[in-house]
Amino acid sequence: MRYLILSDIHGNIDALEAVMADAEGKYDKILCCGDLVGYGAEPNAVVDWCRANVSVVIRGNHDKVASGVEKMEDYNPAAVLSTMWTRKALTPENVEYLRVLPKGPVEVDGFSLAHGSPFDEDEYLVTVYDAANAWESMPTPVTFFGHTHLQGGFFIRRASVREIDKVPPGNHEATVVIDDDSRFLINPGSVGQPRDRDPRSAYAIYSTDDRMVTYYRVHYDIVKAQNKILNAQLPEPLALRLAVGC
Ligand SMILES: [Fe+2]
Repeated sequence: MRYLILSDIHGNIDALEAVMADAEGKYDKILCCGDLVGYGAEPNAVVDWCRANVSVVIRGNHDKVASGVEKMEDYNPAAVLSTMWTRKALTPENVEYLRVLPKGPVEVDGFSLAHGSPFDEDEYLVTVYDAANAWESMPTPVTFFGHTHLQGGFFIRRASVREIDKVPPGNHEATVVIDDDSRFLINPGSVGQPRDRDPRSAYAIYSTDDRMVTYYRVHYDIVKAQNKILNAQLPEPLALRLAVGC
């Protein structure tokens, strides 16, 4: 089975459409590690699409605050404004869909999906030290996660934790072999708001038959997504950051 793994789409339908065009023919099922909404100007388009196409979605922190599951805490001013805007924009059906999304980790076909860390859905896994703290809570040898918007992740082999590199700038894809001697925390990267200084949209494909994860980066119409954010009178920094990938 080939799984298309998406994460952190954040209301960016233009990025999502570019990913789906690039991924065409490469997957059998679609999974999502959360944060469908927040920041971007088209939350309903993204949620409608996920409801129709994604087999398993777990909730992200933005899905929780937009649907009233959780209050905003430690959110920066732009995130607060975008959450308030998103709450108003979402249809009642889409609010309800987000409200009942399951908390990660959720197991699928022998591997898992988490939003943040396997032990805390809101925890950021950024460094090897963060990853080292997460190993014991991994429900399966391979866990996909999001939340940081940083493509790559970590593997542990013989008690040593190492980073997995993202796709280098200028390249379209990079592969990682899933071996039995290691455990993997894999971040497909963010579809709608990358923060690893590469503004291209990010995703991954996991082939359980080939035991291989392939990371991808694709160009999308960033100016179009920026204009939608500005026309919606969302905070300008949310548009500007898309161009630099941070
Ligand atoms: Fe996110």
